Amino acid sequence: MQNTPSLRTVEWKNDKVVMIDQTRLPNDLVFIEYSDYHDVANAIKTLVVRGAPAIGVSGAFGLALAALQSNTSTKDQLISDLEKAKKILFDTRPTAVNLAWGLDQIMNVAKHGNTVDEIRKLVINTAKQMADNDIKINMTMGKHGSQLFDDNDTIMTHCNAGSLATVAYGTALGVIRATKESGKNVKVIATETRPIQQGSRLTAFELKHDGFDVSLIPDTAVGYTMANKLVNKVVVGADRVLRTGHVYNKIGTYQVALIAKQHGIPFYVAAPLSTFDMKSNPQDVIIEQRKGTEVTQIGDKKTAPDGINVINPAFDMTPPELISGIITEAGVAKQPFVESIPKLFEANK
Ligand code: MRU
Repeated sequence: MQNTPSLRTVEWKNDKVVMIDQTRLPNDLVFIEYSDYHDVANAIKTLVVRGAPAIGVSGAFGLALAALQSNTSTKDQLISDLEKAKKILFDTRPTAVNLAWGLDQIMNVAKHGNTVDEIRKLVINTAKQMADNDIKINMTMGKHGSQLFDDNDTIMTHCNAGSLATVAYGTALGVIRATKESGKNVKVIATETRPIQQGSRLTAFELKHDGFDVSLIPDTAVGYTMANKLVNKVVVGADRVLRTGHVYNKIGTYQVALIAKQHGIPFYVAAPLSTFDMKSNPQDVIIEQRKGTEVTQIGDKKTAPDGINVINPAFDMTPPELISGIITEAGVAKQPFVESIPKLFEANK
């Protein structure tokens, strides 16, 4: 395991999956151990672990547990047990493409094993490798992205695309970390990210934990901070990036991008190549709809009347024309994305 200056969100320890319980942050930093893949699926569903790369690796670790849980002695039965576990893990959240990516990677290596023991070892080692690679990829992405940021920039970010959304280091926050590590002095503005506060509970928590200058704003203050020149660049993460440069990320990202465009503020997205979906079109992407109580309550306290309709999408789509650049581990894609994105994949072969 690599030494990193930030929190490790998910890892494999003594044949168990260990995760930070993100539902308890910022009040309690609690680690939970899982030995049953059904519980890992539930952890993804209930946002104990969240963020596209973190759920990709968690899905892979879920399959590693499934390989240990299966009591079969035949290869074919083990593969069929893994297929069953894959479906349960996949059905947890529909928008982030990294989950399917992580599960597919594991199923591909599992099929190469000849015996049950060999498959178990292959699956566990591949999942651990994916976790370590996630950190390396974020650090490389951070270095590429840091070149777009200057000394004394104040950078806005939305939701949490940090250590807590990945294995460690982060995508958007990884870019901010790398910018600071390159000697530039930067400040961060974090949006609180209603309705479940990934910005205030997680981004503000991890940036404070790691010694950053961070200011929290209500989501509704994005226009105010931009109009008053309190921010000069934006970087966010992504749950899915299409080959056309359409970016799916936490609900509210689209509004941030629109206001940034209005004020001539560069809007960047940081996402590893595992977040790209080169096959789908915008109409194919399923936006997760979440329960209404996330909007009608704050914690246990009701903040809306009973019996009303609620629209609570977890993600929105930012069109390519609002995006100044997409930062990946293979470099930065610029407009037109239909040309630059395939080139990044070529360069990464
Ligand atoms: O619902 P969440 O908290 O899983 O949403 C997470 C985001 O939208 C992140 O910005 C995205 O996954 C990128 S994480 C590096």
